[in-house]
Amino acid sequence: SSSKILIKGGTVVNAHREEVADVYVEDGIIVAVKPNIKVGDDVTVLDATGKFVMPGGIDPHTHLSFEFMGTETVDDFFYGQAAALAGGTTMHIDFVIPVSGSLTAGFEAYEKKAKKSCMDYGFHMAITKWDEVVSKEMEIMFFLAYKGALMINDELLLEGFKKCKSLGALAMVHAENGDAVYEGQKRMIELGIFGPEGHTLSRPSLLEGEATARAIRLAGFVNTPLYVVHVMSIDAMEEIATARRKGQRVIGEPVVSGLTLDGSGVWDPDFVTAAKFVMSPPIRASGHDKALQAALSTGILQLVGTDHCSFNSTQKALGIDDFRNIPNGVNGIEERMHLVWDIMVESGQISVTDYVRITSTECARIFNIYPRKGAILPGSDADIIIFNPNSSFEITAKSHHSRSDTNVFEGRRGKGKVEVTIAGGRIVWENDELKVVPGSGKYVEMPPFAYLFNGIDKGDAEYLSSLRAPVKRFKSTD
Ligand code: URP
Repeated sequence: SSSKILIKGGTVVNAHREEVADVYVEDGIIVAVKPNIKVGDDVTVLDATGKFVMPGGIDPHTHLSFEFMGTETVDDFFYGQAAALAGGTTMHIDFVIPVSGSLTAGFEAYEKKAKKSCMDYGFHMAITKWDEVVSKEMEIMFFLAYKGALMINDELLLEGFKKCKSLGALAMVHAENGDAVYEGQKRMIELGIFGPEGHTLSRPSLLEGEATARAIRLAGFVNTPLYVVHVMSIDAMEEIATARRKGQRVIGEPVVSGLTLDGSGVWDPDFVTAAKFVMSPPIRASGHDKALQAALSTGILQLVGTDHCSFNSTQKALGIDDFRNIPNGVNGIEERMHLVWDIMVESGQISVTDYVRITSTECARIFNIYPRKGAILPGSDADIIIFNPNSSFEITAKSHHSRSDTNVFEGRRGKGKVEVTIAGGRIVWENDELKVVPGSGKYVEMPPFAYLFNGIDKGDAEYLSSLRAPVKRFKSTD
């Protein structure tokens, strides 16, 4: 690595344009983007001729060092991030889970976990209960899905939406109907279905659609923007499409597992193989994946996350007798950039500039850190990848950098490869080798009132002006 780097002769791709240019980096910042930059001998020169030079990926949705369902994810902030860097992602946004209901205590705990970071990161705040204390703390994320554990009801959801709106915080929702999922699980047990397929069968896509519709309607009622995480089904996607068509500010985030897998994995006769695919909402049947891809290519959905939440076979085996005890979550932080390239660009569904938009720029815009992140422009952070469209990738648990012994994308191959990753101005991935430094990653603050809030009060004015004057009623004695 070097504090001065020149990337020569590549095609620089931003979400707004692509051009053949050199990129010069000094002390972690992009200093110049133009043809034929001349430099001295103290500069590390990387030849990118015939390759794409793009902003590093930003993963809007991860769970590193996540204590969940009686265990903790195998990938912590160091190993999970190292895996991300090997796959061309240079920033992620993780979900802070409150400690005993306190967001502040949760934030402090996550600050500690993140001390070993080797790339930049941000935090979303998860809301798992609601009271005066929480109301006073910063809030961004709601879970509707896990009855008794993380779920909050509609009254609290409305309170949260109102609070988010007043703070300029973007409300995010895990949209599943937890009460109905609970009923679905009981049905499976009554039928004697205890295996991983019971997980999928107990929470059909109609429950995801119902919760997505409800969250969208309630956010519309409060007139605050809404971000729906891990959109896994046509049902949820169609609710987002309808709301957007009506002008509502709703963002939909598909994840790489939902975009590339067909959900048949949980029917594998081998328990461990089947259990590795268990996540919530479940990976849907064939057809949902293609529909989500189409929605992404036409702008109904805006950006791709992973929900990286990695458990190993031993942890998955906690649910060997009962699918309700299988820790929910799959990998993706390392695979996202390659798989999205393969299914979206290589397949001809989107352009290279759109690839940059859905893997990096849109995330930076939504969370208000653009153009510091998500762009190759003078003044932006030097988070850059060199991507060779003529090389190829192959995914195996043997060769991946996650600490898990399994990979839901095992055996996937495709064209294109992240050959070099630069994070914060350091070359951290080159020649299939990681050179990561614990503690080098920085916390990135995401300021409130991102573009989604622009002019939001017009909606309030419209609502008020639509109200008829109240009727004046007088007592008969008056
Ligand atoms: O299965 C999943 N998605 N695990 C992570 C937690 C959540 O529900 O998002």
